[in-house]
Amino acid sequence: MVWTASSVVATALLFLLLLRHGKAARTTTSLRLPPGPPGWPVIGNILDLGTKPHINLARLKSKYGSLIWLRLGSINTLVISSAESAMEMFKNHDHSFCNRYLNETMRTDEAYTGTMVLGEYGPYWRMLRRLCTTELFSRKRIKDTEPLRRRCVDKLIKWISDEANEETGNSVELARFVFAASFNVIGNLMLSRDLVDPNSTKGNEFFNLNSELTELTAKPNLADLFPSLRWLDPQGLRKQTQEKLRLVLEIVCSFVEERRRCRMDMDVQDDSQQNNKDKDFLDVLMEFEGNGKDEPTKISDKNLNMLILELFMVATETTNSSVEWAMTELLRKPEAMKKIRAEISQIVGHDRKIEESDIEDLPYLGAVIKETLRLHPPVPLLIPRSVVKDTELIGYLIPKGTQVFVNVWGIGRDPASWDDPLSFKPERFLGSNVDYRGQNFEYLPFGAGRRICPGLPLAHQMIHLVVGSLIQSFDWVLESGVTPETMDMGEKMGMALRKASPLKAIPRALDL
Ligand code: HEM
Repeated sequence: MVWTASSVVATALLFLLLLRHGKAARTTTSLRLPPGPPGWPVIGNILDLGTKPHINLARLKSKYGSLIWLRLGSINTLVISSAESAMEMFKNHDHSFCNRYLNETMRTDEAYTGTMVLGEYGPYWRMLRRLCTTELFSRKRIKDTEPLRRRCVDKLIKWISDEANEETGNSVELARFVFAASFNVIGNLMLSRDLVDPNSTKGNEFFNLNSELTELTAKPNLADLFPSLRWLDPQGLRKQTQEKLRLVLEIVCSFVEERRRCRMDMDVQDDSQQNNKDKDFLDVLMEFEGNGKDEPTKISDKNLNMLILELFMVATETTNSSVEWAMTELLRKPEAMKKIRAEISQIVGHDRKIEESDIEDLPYLGAVIKETLRLHPPVPLLIPRSVVKDTELIGYLIPKGTQVFVNVWGIGRDPASWDDPLSFKPERFLGSNVDYRGQNFEYLPFGAGRRICPGLPLAHQMIHLVVGSLIQSFDWVLESGVTPETMDMGEKMGMALRKASPLKAIPRALDL
């Protein structure tokens, strides 16, 4: 055998590569999985989650620490339970954790594969995210769309006034109205129309199907525990999901078809009409032209419908839940409510309504919203992530495909990060730089990293405007027999973490 110079170099390189690979393989395999509670045969740790997983998982932190390892049936699961481990994950390994974990129900008909919330991290997801960020949530779009939010909030105040009926002093179930207002904000941004009215059944079917779908995707599924049973669909969850998806997509399709007809009519009549009309998000999606390389030339009908659907699903209940919890905490702490009212009187005065442009000048209102989202993050475990490749995290092995929960509910109440963590104290945020934009890892109600909530700028405006307007317009009083001490603070998990018993309170109109 003749050794030429090039073969010597090639062999040396190969040897180095093998050495490196062997070393990497050894490093990964010699790592241990994080600690966690022992599981039962077959079902693993499912019972450790219970019906309130965020609470039960937060309890496990004192025994197992910042990273907790669980086996949920056949699903490897990691729970990020402290600010330090969240920082390590988002700052140093965000790329490894940037996929979503899809359970069996979510995989039904592969409907979610082309969506933004559950879609795979890659060029198509990036394209959707860019489109949403520029066309819905950019500073400019937020400013341009301010009047439509104002209109929806004006309607909200009117609905509440009518329901309260000055003479009888009725109490109102606040969330019913805030939900309708939030739903209509999204309806107007995307489809230029109000979709629901709390006093009629109009639009209810669309909302109910949305919630039923979310509930179905959150239900424990035997097919996840025993993948060999997938074909059998043992609880019929796939079948039910298919049916609900079909019904809800029929509704979305009818909006889209109506718009298509309308655009065609306009084309026939006059080009300038179309150009003059304010474009909504549906127009943007229909007019999208991709480069045909790393993005499609057009958004398919299926993906367009799913995107519209998912934005309604993620946006409305999260906003509604935040407003309901904020008002609940304020009714438990009347001195905080008074401080907001005083701040609004001083900055906005009594001659005009609070506007989004006032928000930055209302620091106490801002502190109340932040404190609400610390104690009551609407998405307590974030939307589960999935690990893209074997990853070493704080000295432990996190294998590819692991499902990841980030317990932002537990982290927001962790005494290691917060003084007197269970008390509602908005003052803690006054003069503090901590905010929810994904850089303070002890406080992540909107998540962090590449998949942080893109709707944050819209949610920020909406929650401040709604809570500020509710306080400016009404003096809120608890129903007779209920005191701040006896208010029910129980939680229930639905599309978002909501109050178990809806907040009811009496609004007494205040003159502007
Ligand atoms: C994702 C929270 C409102 C659209 C998320 C995530 C959280 C969240 C925790 C997952 C982030 C992660 O994995 O790191 C909230 C809260 C809201 C809110 C607390 C209101 C108080 C909205 C609104 C919209 C929206 C108003 C849109 C109109 C989305 C979308 C995603 C998302 C599209 C998926 C992003 C992706 O996977 O790339 N949200 N959200 N959210 N949110 Fe929000």
